[in-house]
Amino acid sequence: MSSGIDRLFATPIYTGRIEARELASLNPSLLRECRQLRADDRAGRRWSRANYPGGFTSYQSANKMHRCSPNFARLEQRLAAHVAKFVRALQWDLGRCRLEMTDCWVNIMPRGTSHGLHLHPVSALSGTYYVQTPRGCPGLKLEDPRLDRFMAAPPRRADASRENQPWVVLPAVAGGFVLFESWLRHEVPANPLRSERISISFNYHWISG
Ligand SMILES: [Fe+2]
Repeated sequence: MSSGIDRLFATPIYTGRIEARELASLNPSLLRECRQLRADDRAGRRWSRANYPGGFTSYQSANKMHRCSPNFARLEQRLAAHVAKFVRALQWDLGRCRLEMTDCWVNIMPRGTSHGLHLHPVSALSGTYYVQTPRGCPGLKLEDPRLDRFMAAPPRRADASRENQPWVVLPAVAGGFVLFESWLRHEVPANPLRSERISISFNYHWISG
């Protein structure tokens, strides 16, 4: 008698890195702009004081950065081929619609700032590009989307393979990025370092046209 195990209902995560030649000119410009935005964006600083303690995010203020900054637009262009590749891997049928980057914002996490567990409602695909990642800064912690259905299941062994862990942390590396389906819950633990962890997050919507 033969037996086997099928591993169904996968949660693909796409990670990549901007090409080195491109990175050398793009990343310093993005870093400057992220810091400049914090200095200029009063509404963002106000919102962050209440919702992102200690840090700065332009999530509720300057959240179309790819449409107002050539450097952010360049980042969007560089990501486009990767998004297309991920869509092929997910085997999505986009029909007559397409994926479009609708939101793109800056996150600056000084020491002590964390980013609580959340997902990105309404969007199809989301992701983060890393601008500045001091050594030892927190990665992106992803949650098994079935966690709330485990009920009486025994816990996984501490040495369980990555695909069986209820939480997986992807390291944050400047110049790198991660793409995931927007329903996947994730968080960033508190930054323990003196240096700031700076990232750019974005959403893609599935829209007609
Ligand atoms: Fe997020």
